[in-house]
Amino acid sequence: MIIGITGAAGYFGRKIIERMENNEKCEKIIGISRRKFVHYFEKLEYHQMDIRNKKLRDLFDKHDVDVIIHLAFVLNPIHDEKEMHEINVGGAKSVLKVAKEIGVKKIIITSSTMVYGAWPDNPEYLTEDSPMRGHPTYYYNRDKVEIEKLCGRFSMEYEGVLTILRPCLVLGPSVDHFYSRLLNWPVLPLVDGKNPEMQFIHEDDLARAYEIFIMKDLPGIFNIVGRGTMKWKEIIETAGKRAVRMPSAILQPLLSMLWHLRLTEFPPQILDFIKYRWVASGEKAAKEAGFIPEYTTRETLESFLMKNNARNAQKAAVWAKA
Ligand SMILES: NC(=O)c1ccc[n+]([C@@H]2O[C@H](COP(=O)([O-])OP(=O)(O)OC[C@H]3O[C@@H](n4cnc5c(N)ncnc54)[C@H](OP(=O)(O)O)[C@@H]3O)[C@@H](O)[C@H]2O)c1
Repeated sequence: MIIGITGAAGYFGRKIIERMENNEKCEKIIGISRRKFVHYFEKLEYHQMDIRNKKLRDLFDKHDVDVIIHLAFVLNPIHDEKEMHEINVGGAKSVLKVAKEIGVKKIIITSSTMVYGAWPDNPEYLTEDSPMRGHPTYYYNRDKVEIEKLCGRFSMEYEGVLTILRPCLVLGPSVDHFYSRLLNWPVLPLVDGKNPEMQFIHEDDLARAYEIFIMKDLPGIFNIVGRGTMKWKEIIETAGKRAVRMPSAILQPLLSMLWHLRLTEFPPQILDFIKYRWVASGEKAAKEAGFIPEYTTRETLESFLMKNNARNAQKAAVWAKA
């Protein structure tokens, strides 16, 4: 089996390649993203390439790619919304087109449980049938919802297997995305005093889930989530930080101003995701794919914190020396 991975040098990419490197059915991995890739994998042939580059078709065609794993996306927000949309939605469009044109047997599109949105009236567990209410102004949800709708139309004319995976927030020892960096703040808000349940999946569970969907043909949409939940206040306290009640009437404009002045990497919309519940059910993936996560949300958080605290202590020591 030959696997093509977009966004190969990112967090998911590295974990999935690591996993597939040890799968004997996987002969070769053709990975692309823009940055230099410093990790070595025997089966990986890596190309520094933009997802919008027309040569992607020839590259995947030349290597007879059987399965495409589409991961490329602007995860850490930038200020250029047009550029983000072109990469996120434009990138997904070209990958789908390539898959159809060269007759790829399977394509796995990476979405997110964020498509459901964080809303005060969300049910206890969101299922794959819950509406994609996204977020009124947040690019991430908007683009993910648009990509899923695109996939819905595309699946009518595609003869291969199209799977959409919706992971929840992923954490683990090697994570470093802007959500994980939120937990470095000394004080974190309980927005309007709210203390919602949250869920995380461990990076090793995530890679195992991808392997299952690469190996089995399971068209459709699947939530990929960790076991159990934790309350936001408990998460803050486990991270050794202070939870403070703060009104959104102050927080929202403050964060908005800092974001527009480019003084923070956190756009104001993320406040909704620590204010309201958006927990998804992993039942469908368990029943139909046999995917049972090993780690609980708490164990996942702890595995991240252990490594993160060590990294922060190291940085502090370097600063102290300088
Ligand atoms: N991390 C999470 O908690 C989480 C949860 C749910 C869903 N997801 C989804 O999972 C996918 C992977 O996320 P991740 O955590 O691995 O993010 P990541 O570490 O930021 O990786 C994203 C990858 O996309 C590549 N990329 C971005 N723009 C590109 C472009 N124009 N052309 C080619 N490649 C491009 C990046 O590399 P370059 O910038 O070097 O090109 C990188 O390799 C995304 O679709 C994300 O939305 C993530």
